[in-house]
Amino acid sequence: MKKHVEALATLSQAHLIGLEKLELLQELPEDMANGRVPAVQERLATLFAFIDGELRAHFRQEEEILFPALEEPLAGPGPITLDGEEPDFCFFLFCESACRLIGPLAIYRRDHQMIWNAIDRLRSAWLEIGRDNSDPEFRLRLEHAAAEVEWLLGSHIAKEDEVLLPKVAEILDDQELAELGLALGVGASR
Ligand SMILES: [Fe+2]
Ligand SMILES: [Fe+2]
Repeated sequence: MKKHVEALATLSQAHLIGLEKLELLQELPEDMANGRVPAVQERLATLFAFIDGELRAHFRQEEEILFPALEEPLAGPGPITLDGEEPDFCFFLFCESACRLIGPLAIYRRDHQMIWNAIDRLRSAWLEIGRDNSDPEFRLRLEHAAAEVEWLLGSHIAKEDEVLLPKVAEILDDQELAELGLALGVGASR
């Protein structure tokens, strides 16, 4: 067992918090249908405070520290940078072919962008709450955006927890893991 694998715990911990925050969206369609608009507004405000704070910081840490640390170890001869282990790296069937085309790290970066796009759609629907909550078109747009954020962020977190982080622990040596932990601000010297 490598000594510094726990350096990745900070990322797993952030993922757990993310999954917890997504629960704020679970009752949204039911609450809207029953006119519990203030409750929806309050939960969305809590969710957006998390998104604009911790989630943004977490994505930045991954994009600026974690992914660059993996570029070289995962570099292959061409666009297929899968280190000879294509199927287990990609996690979802639909993403395997994309991995072959653009490389595994690009998949994670693309996920982040798709999540931000869905968040933007949810934010604009959120800002409209209160204007005409009974408009079925508005409700559909709000519920669709909420479901999209829930699915995209939830599946991205699962992919990172089940595929990316174990891969990081496997391909980086103890020294590299310790350096990564320090860069992420983890107590890697424990
Ligand atoms: Fe991520
Ligand atoms: Fe993450």
